[in-house]
Amino acid sequence: MESQKVSKSYQAFPMNGGDGQQSYARNSMYQRRGTDITKNIIRETILEKLDLETLPQNSSDTFRIADLGCSVGPNTFFTVQNIIDSVDLKYQSQEYNKDSVEFQVFFNDHAGNDFNTLLKSLPEDKQYFAAAVPGSFHGRLFPESSIHVFNSSYTLHWLSKVPKEIVDKNSRAYNKGKIYFTSEDEEVAEAYSAQFERDLESFLNSRVLELVPGGIMILIILCVPPNSLNRFEASVNIIGDVLVEMAKKGLISEELVDSFNIPIYVPTSEEVKKLIKENGNFKIEKSELLFRLIDNDTYQIDAHSSSMHLRAAFEGFFKENFEQDTVDNVFVQFEKKLASESNFLADPSSKELGELFIMKRK
Ligand SMILES: C[S@@+](CC[C@H](N)C(=O)[O-])C[C@H]1O[C@@H](n2cnc3c(N)ncnc32)[C@H](O)[C@@H]1O
Repeated sequence: MESQKVSKSYQAFPMNGGDGQQSYARNSMYQRRGTDITKNIIRETILEKLDLETLPQNSSDTFRIADLGCSVGPNTFFTVQNIIDSVDLKYQSQEYNKDSVEFQVFFNDHAGNDFNTLLKSLPEDKQYFAAAVPGSFHGRLFPESSIHVFNSSYTLHWLSKVPKEIVDKNSRAYNKGKIYFTSEDEEVAEAYSAQFERDLESFLNSRVLELVPGGIMILIILCVPPNSLNRFEASVNIIGDVLVEMAKKGLISEELVDSFNIPIYVPTSEEVKKLIKENGNFKIEKSELLFRLIDNDTYQIDAHSSSMHLRAAFEGFFKENFEQDTVDNVFVQFEKKLASESNFLADPSSKELGELFIMKRK
């Protein structure tokens, strides 16, 4: 029994490190797919919208790029290289001497991220100076007006914390016997949505100070169509069912399951657009639902890869709350349940891939 453990409300549990079987590096094809299909549109938008007048034009200047929530790679390296190639093309198109411009890339994630693996696997032929920046992107990370392009892919659905009402027994939003929510749990959903709103606001307010005027921010945000949960959220609810069953069997404490909640919120595209507009600091230059960019999809999903993908993302968080044996058991049971739900895996190219937003500082 794990009754001695109490679920924590503040979360900073990075993806599985290293490059082993259960690492994020080996189980992030889903996110890689998003990076691949947005490559061209990001390039076109940089070519069209980047203001070279406000950017470095001689050798004493440096072009600075930051990837926020970079994890351990390799996705971050593809993202960064695409941005550098696009900026190079932009310089060429304006007949600037691009050789005089140097690139510096900041890789940011929580301090507990496996930066060692990330830095050891930097591409040997990289044409930039690399630095790791630990810390939460919900606050300030860089000096004022210092970054020319920000990128953040598949990160903003991670909340800075579980909304406090969810774990308050006296609140209408108390989330007993669940680790997430469904569309019927209105109060819980509202508490999650309000936390997302606060987090996105602090993210945007920090970035607007750090971005140079005319600078660009590229976000890939996991989004859902209105009034629906996506497969990712449905998966989390299946993991919740597994935990509840384990509690019923007395393998883990019911109290712990009641206090354990996943600090993730997947917004709708409309919610994101509304919040960016209300924040007022950025102009959306391009937004595109990713599933619209897919023409020839070879992505395959099965119960095992789906379970490995979620495990790579959640294991650190689960381990803060449950013993390793329990965590192993949860993911074994989860995979079994997924395998028995064939409809669940039948449509790999559904609308769940999220949305790309490319914005400029006003
Ligand atoms: C699903 S991974 C995405 C990694 C990478 N961007 C990609 O596309 O493959 C989400 C990453 O965001 C990081 N993250 C979540 N919240 C964060 C925060 N507040 N500050 C910095 N990093 C954060 C996590 O630690 C994790 O490494």
